[in-house]
Amino acid sequence: MAVFSHVLKRATVLRHRIPHRKMSNIPENTVYGGPKPQTPDQRITLAHLKQKHKKGDPITMVTSYDYPSAVQLDIAGIDICLVGDSAAMVVHGHDTTLPITLDEMLVHCRAVARGAKRPLLVGDLPFGTYESSTQQAVNSAVRILKEGGMDAIKLEGASPSRVTAAKAIVEAGIAVMGHVGLTPQAISVLGGFRPQGRNSSSAVKVVETALALQEAGCFAVVLECVPAPVAAAATSVLKIPTIGIGAGPFCSGQVLVYHDLLGMLQHPHHAKVTPKFCKQYARVGDVINKALLELKDEVIKGTFPGPAHSPYKISAAEVGGFLDELKQMGLETAASAVAEAVEKMEKH
Ligand code: KIV
Repeated sequence: MAVFSHVLKRATVLRHRIPHRKMSNIPENTVYGGPKPQTPDQRITLAHLKQKHKKGDPITMVTSYDYPSAVQLDIAGIDICLVGDSAAMVVHGHDTTLPITLDEMLVHCRAVARGAKRPLLVGDLPFGTYESSTQQAVNSAVRILKEGGMDAIKLEGASPSRVTAAKAIVEAGIAVMGHVGLTPQAISVLGGFRPQGRNSSSAVKVVETALALQEAGCFAVVLECVPAPVAAAATSVLKIPTIGIGAGPFCSGQVLVYHDLLGMLQHPHHAKVTPKFCKQYARVGDVINKALLELKDEVIKGTFPGPAHSPYKISAAEVGGFLDELKQMGLETAASAVAEAVEKMEKH
């Protein structure tokens, strides 16, 4: 009962802290009941992002793949929560983003949607789910909203077929975030995770492709791994916000990968993939490692769990009855174990 009331109390606290989520990609002036107009404590909408951008207020975006990280982003007041296909690398341990499937992404999306009530939720279309046809792209985007509980999708690249796909998805009523510069899903043709826009023709391409995505109706564009002056050019020419990652300070907003910014990846393999541009705001991996070593040590030494972490008591009278029952059942060894345990617990 005590446990139950604690859980109930905690749930009430969380309910108050995290307002109930409402879809955010619906216009503010709705004809029917449904999402309420935004107040500072409610969901972030495209209109809210537009306002921020107009005022020159920086937009914050962080990736999230599960319920706990989503709650953290929500509590921290991050504007956009991106369920990135980077999950393939930082959660599933792959070397690239290519292997993750739409079904796997949907599991991440649903967990995040349960945890983040305020940020705008954007789900990545994974590799292989939007390149074949506009029909395929629209169908995948619909699943991200319908089954994943996201507000918008993100897709990579701005080749003519991608721009057509982006346009078709917007026309289907789904908000689209573009992504140019380094597009990790194109690793095969890029020949590795290489920065883009480092010569004039490549720099022009970054600006042109961002403009093409704006033309297609995207509400924002991620600029990944391009020199700061190139990002500055794109940001000044676009009417929609640019969200930079490894693109310097002149973007309308910034995005980082959750695991990278928290320094969660202390394993040498993971350290290898933490990008150079990522500032580590913490070394959570070290904290986790220290805690696990301490737990291991205490279990081996027998100091955990001590009396403080053995909360479930049994009265002396009940122990007596229990001992009698065990003896009647012929379980003498178990009865001795009970007596020994009681004696040890009393000593502490
Ligand atoms: O998948 C991802 O995390 C991303 C960000 C790096 C923008 O696309």
